[in-house]
Amino acid sequence: MAKTAELIIDGKSYTFPIVVGSEGEQGIDISNLLESTGTVTLDFGYKNTGATKSAITFLDGDKGILRYRGYSIEDLADKSSFLEVSYLLIFGDLPSPEQLTKFTTDIKNHTMVHEDIKKILDGFPSTSHPMGVLASLFCAQTAFYPEALDPNRAAEGVYLSMIRSLAKMPTFAAWAFKNAVGHPVNYPDNSLDYCSRFLKMMFALPAEDFEIDPVVSSALDKLLILHADHEQNCSTSTVRIVGSSKASIYSSISAGINALWGPLHGGANQEVILMLEQIKKDGGDTDKWINKAKDKNDPFRLMGFGHRVYKNFDPRAKIIKKAADDVLEKLGVNDPTLEIARKLEEVALRDPYFIERKLYPNVDFYSGIIYRALGIPVDMFTVMFAIGRLPGWIAQWKELRENKEPIGRPRQIYTGANFRPYVALDKR
Ligand code: SDX
Repeated sequence: MAKTAELIIDGKSYTFPIVVGSEGEQGIDISNLLESTGTVTLDFGYKNTGATKSAITFLDGDKGILRYRGYSIEDLADKSSFLEVSYLLIFGDLPSPEQLTKFTTDIKNHTMVHEDIKKILDGFPSTSHPMGVLASLFCAQTAFYPEALDPNRAAEGVYLSMIRSLAKMPTFAAWAFKNAVGHPVNYPDNSLDYCSRFLKMMFALPAEDFEIDPVVSSALDKLLILHADHEQNCSTSTVRIVGSSKASIYSSISAGINALWGPLHGGANQEVILMLEQIKKDGGDTDKWINKAKDKNDPFRLMGFGHRVYKNFDPRAKIIKKAADDVLEKLGVNDPTLEIARKLEEVALRDPYFIERKLYPNVDFYSGIIYRALGIPVDMFTVMFAIGRLPGWIAQWKELRENKEPIGRPRQIYTGANFRPYVALDKR
């Protein structure tokens, strides 16, 4: 017997079906609520609203579970690679050796960007935040590959757009960094793996040999896996709603890059380091800053803490915290902000304010410490998040198209002025 929910409005009873997911999650299907009751729902920030059905990522916020296509984030971070996880998210299963080789090779064959991209890049002053440059360069692909604007593009064309996105994102990201530091750009070295190729484009200097440290490239690969998808978060929902208007993959993902930039979302990893530096400069008094975070009259928030879904530990934060210890030890880096982060976590997790609100460290709390140990500058941290999240955005955009979902168009409750006749200027 299918489960249902009953709603009573003005004494009249309405019944709606309850949808049950493969992990037992329940949702009330209100697809015909307005038509049958004349009423809409109101849910600021969509905290209680499911926007779609998806088979890509499963989160259990209470148990701290994260799985990509059924595989646990712990297993994938420990045993897989970023490109293999990208394939898994986009196509639904782990690739065979042949499939992974073809996917990797296809990506290698598209890492170059059109030389005219440099003209766009030159238009950005070196003071430009790399996220703004990245969003613009990524969207500029609509100019170089106008065939991607066709909403009815054949599958092989869509595959090529996905490959181009994955192949060129690191190039755009590294070029945005070179623009910020006023250095000449580097071209992709396709003899290297995905992460090493990016690191060389980021850090290689003219006429100097560049050695890839395997500790750095493998730590980066793990970080990208941990950021690869996270169901219907703010930036992914942005990619979906832009894609629902049949906009191209490039413009949909460029919108997602902009949504991720916000300090409450992907921009938090940059804010965490700035916060830790501020606390260090202020003498490291963690109690003082915890009290500021609790004070409703103080705009300060403990960045990297709290999450819309996780009301337990963010499993990614646990993995990154351990990786931070490993990477800093292997690289011989002593970062005093790591000690401050650990103390903040210890104090916060004992504090009733954080316990009552179930505020735990999230993915952003420790990631910045690793990025900094890898030599990534602070205002490139969110760019790293975008590189990691790209396969998730692609997978979600592809799923939306394949499921032929309608254009996203939420309703509202109007609270403005009632009807009033126009008053001529000389009568006001
Ligand atoms: C990401 O959605 C995703 O999956 C996102 C992400 C992904 O992979 O895509 O996981 C990546 O964005 C992680 C989150 C990064 N952001 C931050 O670290 C910024 C700091 N955290 C917050 O601003 C906040 O916790 C959010 C934005 C993450 C979640 O906000 P919610 O769910 O809207 O919760 P809320 O703002 O309504 O907070 C509930 C209560 C409030 O107190 P009361 O009004 O009930 O008294 O908790 C308090 C908030 O003031 N609170 C915090 C806090 N976070 C929430 N108080 C102090 N410090 C914080 N960090």
